[in-house]
Amino acid sequence: MNPQKSAGARRAFDVTFDGRTVEALPGRTIAAVLWAAGVTSWRTTRNEGRPRGVFCGIGVCFDCLVTVNGRPNQRACLLPARPGDDIRTQEGTGHED
Ligand code: FES
Repeated sequence: MNPQKSAGARRAFDVTFDGRTVEALPGRTIAAVLWAAGVTSWRTTRNEGRPRGVFCGIGVCFDCLVTVNGRPNQRACLLPARPGDDIRTQEGTGHED
């Protein structure tokens, strides 16, 4: 049993990452949730498709852009995870171009 689920005060909830269910704790950012699940890359660069994840961790570099609930270009290091969030790897700009 997960002690954080049974503690009651801060109940874990589920989000999905590329269709896979991932457990999240309240107050954690999308980046923290993905890191806790062992995911370190959730974006590819526009021209060369290189993997990206967190670099600065404070909302400055934009390396951590991700698509959340169909909205591309969300900074994973700043955006708190919410129950049911549909988080997707972002390729390039995240738009059809
Ligand atoms: S890691 Fe730099 S903006 Fe998110």
